[in-house]
Amino acid sequence: MDNQIISTIKSFFDDENNYDEVTILANTSAIINQLFPNINWVGFYLYKNNILKLGPFQGKPACMEIKLENGVCGWSARNKKSIIVNNVHEFEGHIACDSASNSELVIPIIIDNVLYGVLDIDSPLYNRFSDCDLQIMEDVIKIISKKIKRL
Ligand code: SME
Repeated sequence: MDNQIISTIKSFFDDENNYDEVTILANTSAIINQLFPNINWVGFYLYKNNILKLGPFQGKPACMEIKLENGVCGWSARNKKSIIVNNVHEFEGHIACDSASNSELVIPIIIDNVLYGVLDIDSPLYNRFSDCDLQIMEDVIKIISKKIKRL
């Protein structure tokens, strides 16, 4: 897909360097935050010891651990599926880290069939995320997963 976020991610990570995991995730969240309008939080939760733990992000401080039974992130991690929530207040079990958030997009990160974590994006707008946005973010995850896999 031809998109500024994808081309920027590629320009940062489509090379032979083995960057540290935190380096890749931190800059990915910064690039999305800079180029994706109308969002108030973007970041990663990483799956460790049966729980999602807060990773690199941009936005207000957020909850540090999420059980797989809880929230939109837990749903995505549990089902290994991407999800768009147009109105988070209608999602049972939604975790409100920032009361300004009204819609949310979560993409699972699966490396070699194993759950690695999720990418979570929040917006203050309702219905912020389209299927096209979801596709772009899945492509972002494909690119960075290849880098992380090599570590
Ligand atoms: N809303 C998420 C929790 C994480 S924060 O949005 C950063 C959820 O329901 O899983």
